[in-house]
Amino acid sequence: MKIAVFISGSGTNLQSLLDAEAEGFFKSEIALVVSNRRDAYGLVRAREAGKATFVEEEVDLMAVLEENEIDFIVLAGYLKILGKDLLTRYAGRIINIHPALLPKYGGKGMYGLHVHEAVFAHGEKRSGATVHHVTETVDGGAILLQSSVDIEKLTSPEAIQQTVLVLEHQLLKTAIRFCEEGIL
Ligand code: GRF
Repeated sequence: MKIAVFISGSGTNLQSLLDAEAEGFFKSEIALVVSNRRDAYGLVRAREAGKATFVEEEVDLMAVLEENEIDFIVLAGYLKILGKDLLTRYAGRIINIHPALLPKYGGKGMYGLHVHEAVFAHGEKRSGATVHHVTETVDGGAILLQSSVDIEKLTSPEAIQQTVLVLEHQLLKTAIRFCEEGIL
């Protein structure tokens, strides 16, 4: 598959995919990286890996995806809602990584540390990461993979975030491998 990765921030999930691609963990090619934020550090990571990068509002996104023959989109720390045209064109071929065990702790406003603050406030014994299909319902698409961890001993939302981030990095590259192998 020719993959476009969408980011908004530090890009640690992107970095885990770049490393996985380099070590042959999956066969797919990360062809380009798109950010809705010009200052996203993930763009630096992408350029250092020799990837083409685009800042969303500066380009005609659909044209860029078309010209690069992109056939799969991965949202990796991307914090914007996708447009209808993109959701339609790539229906069934867009996945997202969410830092919680959906369907709980998903939806509008549930991103970044907010997710882990809610999990912590509810006294959850476990948390984790979810890879799901992207549809017009925020965090509502079919769940593809989940990975959970015991968080009873963790004493802050930040500690939960750091623990879950490690799971995200493992889960997202595995989801790509399963998708290209037709398992998912
Ligand atoms: C991660 O927790 C990710 O799940 C969420 O955004 C956070 C930052 O991701 N969507 P990254 O470091 O930019 O990949």
